[in-house]
Amino acid sequence: MTGVDKLRWVKPVLKPHRTGGLNKFGALRSMRFRDEVEGVPVEDLLRDYGSPLFVISERRLRNNTRTLRRMFSTRYRNVLQAWSYKTNYLGAVCNVLHQEGSWAEVVSAFEYEKARALGVPGDRILFNGPHKPKEILTRAAREGARIHLDNMDEIHMLEEVAAELGIRVPVTMRLTFDTGYTEAWTRFGFHIESGEAMDAAKRIHDMGRLHLKGLHSHIGTFVVDPRAYAAQVRIMTAFMDDVEKQTDAAIDSIDIGGGFPSLNALQGVYLPKEQFIPPLERYADAICDALIEGTRDRQARGMEQPRLILETGRAVVDDSEVLISSVVANKRLADGRQGIVMDAGVNLLFTSFWYNHEVEPTRMLDGLPEETVLYGPLCMNIDVMRQHIMMPPLKLGDSLIFSPAGAYNNTQWLQFIEYRPNVVMVHEDGSVSVVREAETLDTVIGPERMPEHLKEPFPGN
Ligand SMILES: Cc1ncc(COP(=O)(O)O)c(C=O)c1O
Repeated sequence: MTGVDKLRWVKPVLKPHRTGGLNKFGALRSMRFRDEVEGVPVEDLLRDYGSPLFVISERRLRNNTRTLRRMFSTRYRNVLQAWSYKTNYLGAVCNVLHQEGSWAEVVSAFEYEKARALGVPGDRILFNGPHKPKEILTRAAREGARIHLDNMDEIHMLEEVAAELGIRVPVTMRLTFDTGYTEAWTRFGFHIESGEAMDAAKRIHDMGRLHLKGLHSHIGTFVVDPRAYAAQVRIMTAFMDDVEKQTDAAIDSIDIGGGFPSLNALQGVYLPKEQFIPPLERYADAICDALIEGTRDRQARGMEQPRLILETGRAVVDDSEVLISSVVANKRLADGRQGIVMDAGVNLLFTSFWYNHEVEPTRMLDGLPEETVLYGPLCMNIDVMRQHIMMPPLKLGDSLIFSPAGAYNNTQWLQFIEYRPNVVMVHEDGSVSVVREAETLDTVIGPERMPEHLKEPFPGN
């Protein structure tokens, strides 16, 4: 036997005997392993690009968005997807989705500027969000973006902009209401129930500077009941009919925002994600049926059916990206559990506050699975990637794949204590490119400025 072949010594563990431990959901997930991402060996990825590492699959991203569009466009004639930048605004991700026909849905000056810098024409941008300073509002109006109005002050400001530009600006109104299925996100847009939305529409009509052309609402995120969307569409189409009767609004689009779940395990949910999360077809059925029903009268009157806009974020991108992280230390915690320190924590996988991501070892692990805490390098108690997971012993340098990681992590990640690592994309031909370089000291301190008298840390020494 050579040194390499020798069986590894595995630390013995004393475990209390538990009866009734049978698991109706089958084998322990942690016993599976996965040593590649999109056919590229994890070993090669970590050797070439370092650890931790985000890996995006271009193929999955394209497939997900195509599948979603097919589901809706086979049920309703006029469908448009708009990519929700906040879900993942890495340029390569956005451009894959733009190449697949998605417009850009942005919610801030930064996101607007980013979409324009990527080459998205203004008239393919939907501009949402509660904070649009006058300068960017003027640019968006001039460039033909569809501005989604959020509040009365914004209406006043945009009317001013329209007067200055000497144009009538087409707008979409963001609506908020109670579907009866989800907690309403009442802070964004105009309330239907209180009459605020109709008042705003009348004001738009009376002033004549803006023209109400679209309705938008976003009822939440990770919404697991498709009936919520049917209710949303019913409320929106009823409002469309009302507002067209009472004002000169001519609605060309019903934008239902995002919110479909991805296949991720929400914390606190007992059922496995595969049982808990409805298939996307059920959302498409609920939405398109309600829309066809809600626009039947218009069709009978020979009117154009409004375009259905989807701003689906997480359901498109989440499972197209993983985070690979390596074990940097191994310890026994005071309560007896195995504690594994990883080189990535909540700084990179921000969504681990809400989800129990799938965690896959990258080699077959031997030894008994035991209760384990996976935590990151942040030196903060909150930095826990998984509070409870059954894991056999791991050794230094072992790596784990966390998935899905594509939604909200590359946008909400923190530059806190650590540098953010490389993000790579595996293309359809199997080649790999860096789509965001790892940060360096210069990236982080570059924007800092040092006052003259603070230049020396220990003056006179
Ligand atoms: C206006 C709007 N549209 C779309 C989205 C994307 O949502 P999701 O990722 O849940 O599909 C969001 C996310 O918060 C949003 O605020």
